[in-house]
Amino acid sequence: HGHDLLVVGSANADLVIHVDRRPDAGETVLGSDLATHPGGKGANQAVAAARLGARTALLARVGDDAHGRLLTGSLTSAGVDTTRVLSGDTPTGVALITVDPSGDNSIVVSPGANARLTPADVAGARELLAAARVVSLQLEIPLESVAAAVAAATEAGTRIVLNPSPPAALPREVLAGCDPIVVNEHEARVLLGPEAGDTPEAWAAGLLALGPRSVVVTLGAAGALAATADGTVRIPSPRVAAVDTTGAGDSFTGALAWRLGAGDDLVTAVRFAVRVGAAAVKKPGAQESFPTLEEVGQL
Ligand code: RIB
Ligand code: NA
Repeated sequence: HGHDLLVVGSANADLVIHVDRRPDAGETVLGSDLATHPGGKGANQAVAAARLGARTALLARVGDDAHGRLLTGSLTSAGVDTTRVLSGDTPTGVALITVDPSGDNSIVVSPGANARLTPADVAGARELLAAARVVSLQLEIPLESVAAAVAAATEAGTRIVLNPSPPAALPREVLAGCDPIVVNEHEARVLLGPEAGDTPEAWAAGLLALGPRSVVVTLGAAGALAATADGTVRIPSPRVAAVDTTGAGDSFTGALAWRLGAGDDLVTAVRFAVRVGAAAVKKPGAQESFPTLEEVGQL
């Protein structure tokens, strides 16, 4: 059969500066030397899964430029199948990232080539989508391309994992296709609006009512919550010193998608993914910080 995991999503060059604190409007602050890391939520998920040993492919778009080569290099060395990493005239996506002393980040993304990943590109990967055990999606590519991938995967019976990041209103068919939808607090609050409630259990219940088969709420250092119609389970995280949380959520979701496709039940897969995310925050950058299976075991 096909790949363990097909990721459909973004690839960005992450331009990272560490700061003592973020500037207010109209303010200038001095930060660290600039670091350029391979990132993007789609590429991050793919690298995370491949580094753990999953047979993984990425459908994405980059530019014919140095940032595009940085991305394909990182994907290739992690073992990701890059035959569907398409290249064109539009520059590779860029993420401007500040990281504060607690390891938390703020990100502005210029989509660039990611905005050119079309439903036609998705249709071109139809066979890959049908043959994969799981397809994993985020929202840094056009929503109509996400919807096309969900429709094709639904038709083929391929399991769908979606992290709605950055959050946006989603069509009913997209929500109904997710098993699970993976959100953090911010994404849950945006999707649910003012009636969201204040606990992860409330967010999970609210999201389940929108149609997905299952919901996972990531809680940072507090771990994650897994929810289905049968109930909710909280899974704690191992304690780690956070250096840079960038991409940790993507490593969590990539690992989760892989393990679900391999046959783990939701709670078992979340328990594993929490450890992957914890390992990722211990090192700077996104893709370069993602653990091997051995490193997860050592945690
Ligand atoms: O989720 C982290 C990622 O968000 C970064 O790698 C950046 O590229 C943005 O897409
Ligand atoms: Na990291």
